[in-house]
Amino acid sequence: MRIALFDSGLGGLTVLSHARRVFPTEEFLFYADRDHVPYGTKAVGEVRAYVRDALHFLVETQRAEAVLIACNTATSVAADEMRRRYDVPIIGMEPAVKKALDADGRRRILVAATPITVRGEKLRRLIEEYDKDGLIDLLALPQLVEFAEREEFVSPRVEAYLRDALAPFALERCSTIVLGCTHFNYFKDTLRRLLPQTMGFTDGNEGTIEELARRIGIPSVPAGAEKAPCTFFDSGRLITGTEAIARLERSIERAERMAQIR
Ligand code: DGL
Repeated sequence: MRIALFDSGLGGLTVLSHARRVFPTEEFLFYADRDHVPYGTKAVGEVRAYVRDALHFLVETQRAEAVLIACNTATSVAADEMRRRYDVPIIGMEPAVKKALDADGRRRILVAATPITVRGEKLRRLIEEYDKDGLIDLLALPQLVEFAEREEFVSPRVEAYLRDALAPFALERCSTIVLGCTHFNYFKDTLRRLLPQTMGFTDGNEGTIEELARRIGIPSVPAGAEKAPCTFFDSGRLITGTEAIARLERSIERAERMAQIR
């Protein structure tokens, strides 16, 4: 089956890496909307238009048979519309609020995401449904996506940015930080240094892939060394250049390393 993953940029690679190993005999397409990243600080209508273009390309031109929107921001504003428009399964991503609450329903939970996701109706409803004891705090991190796209993952500027953003929260009272943007997974090493050891990480990557398996009716296998083939696109242009491929490989390598950090 042809499975497309879509994100505004490199963040979706943190989901793709795992997906290719648990579906090693399928065929993947990966679309990063590099011309328009970041999404999370733009107007909602603008982001909707980008998502429409991306899915048109993936479903109509590339004949994808399922689409995983590996972007919390795009899911927040456009997944419902895309599901109405296309017959193929469309799987979205939302901050893993329920997973975090199920794991620890006593201590506080910090949910970090882009400004659009934090302000969005979808997240508000999710919190209303599951956070009965008011344990969740929200944190918008508008600049982290741009750091990631510049491949500035570890630097004094990144560290200072995160330190300032985390300062208002009583972190020793939190069980976890929910990484509600796929780009944020790239910063787990810096975050690990800044967060107390009592705090863990929660993301929706594996849960989303389980949902993909269920929706496409193909069982996943335990992640191994074998990876499914993948074709990469930047905003609809096939990626072929040596430097562009090297950039992807660096990001995939980093995504896999960050996935090991708990
Ligand atoms: N990876 C996207 C997400 O999960 C980042 C959106 C952006 O470009 O701001 O929300």
